Amino acid sequence: MTDVGTTHEDLERFLAEHHLVGAGLRREGVAPLREGNTSAYWDWEGIYRGLMRSGEIVTVGPNGMTGMRSVTGIEARRFPIWMNAQILMPGERTQAHRNTRSETRLVCQAPAADAFFVCEYEAFPMERGDVIISPSWTYHDHWNEGDVPALWVDGYDNGYCGGVNLNERMPVEQPYQEVRKPAGYGRKTLGHARAMRDGAPDPLPPVRYTWEETRDALATLNQAGERDPFEGVHLMLASPVDNGPTLPTIAWHAQLLGANEATRGHRHNSTTFYFAFEGAGTIVIEDERLDWKTGDIFAVPAWKWHHHENGSGDSILFSIDDWPAMTKLGFYQKEEQSA
Ligand SMILES: [Fe+2]
Ligand SMILES: [Fe+2]
Repeated sequence: MTDVGTTHEDLERFLAEHHLVGAGLRREGVAPLREGNTSAYWDWEGIYRGLMRSGEIVTVGPNGMTGMRSVTGIEARRFPIWMNAQILMPGERTQAHRNTRSETRLVCQAPAADAFFVCEYEAFPMERGDVIISPSWTYHDHWNEGDVPALWVDGYDNGYCGGVNLNERMPVEQPYQEVRKPAGYGRKTLGHARAMRDGAPDPLPPVRYTWEETRDALATLNQAGERDPFEGVHLMLASPVDNGPTLPTIAWHAQLLGANEATRGHRHNSTTFYFAFEGAGTIVIEDERLDWKTGDIFAVPAWKWHHHENGSGDSILFSIDDWPAMTKLGFYQKEEQSA
C-alpha cells in the first residue's frame, strides 16, 4: 500500500485507493465506482489514515474551508442515506450551519470530556459510542477543546430532495451559537419528567444517546435472552418525542452478535448503512461475502437478501436505516427466510 504522503494530491491518491474522497479535495474522477452487492464497503485503515492526514493539511473553520473535513465513500452517494467520517483537530471549532437534511453522528474517538457538539444553544459532550442527532434546520457546530483529534461517523438522510440540500451558515463575524443552556439540559428534561407545554407537541430536539445507555441496554437484553433471529440482540435509539424511530426519516440501531452467531436472511427495500463498532464478522449479501472488522463502514442495498455470520467473539454493529421514511411514504416491504 502506498503511503498517505504529504500533499493534497498524495492524499487524494491514497483516499482513491480506498474508494474514498475528501471534503476540500478533488471529488470527481479519482477512482472508478465499484459494482456489485458488496461494493459499498470502506475499510477503517483508509478512513482513519485519510482522516488523520486530512487533519494536518486541510483547514476548517471560519478562516479555513467553510464546510467540514470529512471522507466519504465514492459509492456512498448512490444511496438515499449514507455515512461518512469526520475529524476535528485539537483546538478547532467549526462554523455553525443548519441544513434541510437531518444529521446524526456516532463518536468513534474523542478527548475525554473535552469535545462538544453544540446544537440549539446546548453543548453535548462527545464520547466514544455516543450518537448525537441534530434535527433538520437546527444550527450546529463541533468544538474540540481537548488535546487529541475527535473522530466521528455521520449518518445522513440526504433531505430526500434529490441532492438539493438548503444550507445556511452563521456569519464569519459571529460563527458560533453561544451555549446558553445548562449542562445536561436535554438529558435532564426529556425523560419521564418534562416541561409542561400546555398540550403542544414536543418539537424534535437534538438528542445525545450515550454509549453507556446503549451498552447497558444491549447487555441487559442479551442477559434476558431477547434475541431476534435476523439481527441478534437488536435495539433502536428511540425518539423522546413519540418513542418512535430516531428521526422521521432514519432510525439508528445497535446490535450485538454473539460469537459465531449466524442470523437468518431477510431483505427489505430500505437501505442500511453499518459501522462496525467492535469485533469482526461477515455479512452475506445475495451470493457475495463481505468480511468486516472494527471501524469499517458498509451498506446493504435495498431489496438484497442478507444475513450475518459473526466472528469468534462478540461484535457490536451500529447502523442507520431509512425504514421510517419508507414506511411513512407507504413503500416499505420486507421478506424473511423461514427457519
Ligand atoms: Fe452539519
Ligand atoms: Fe437487514
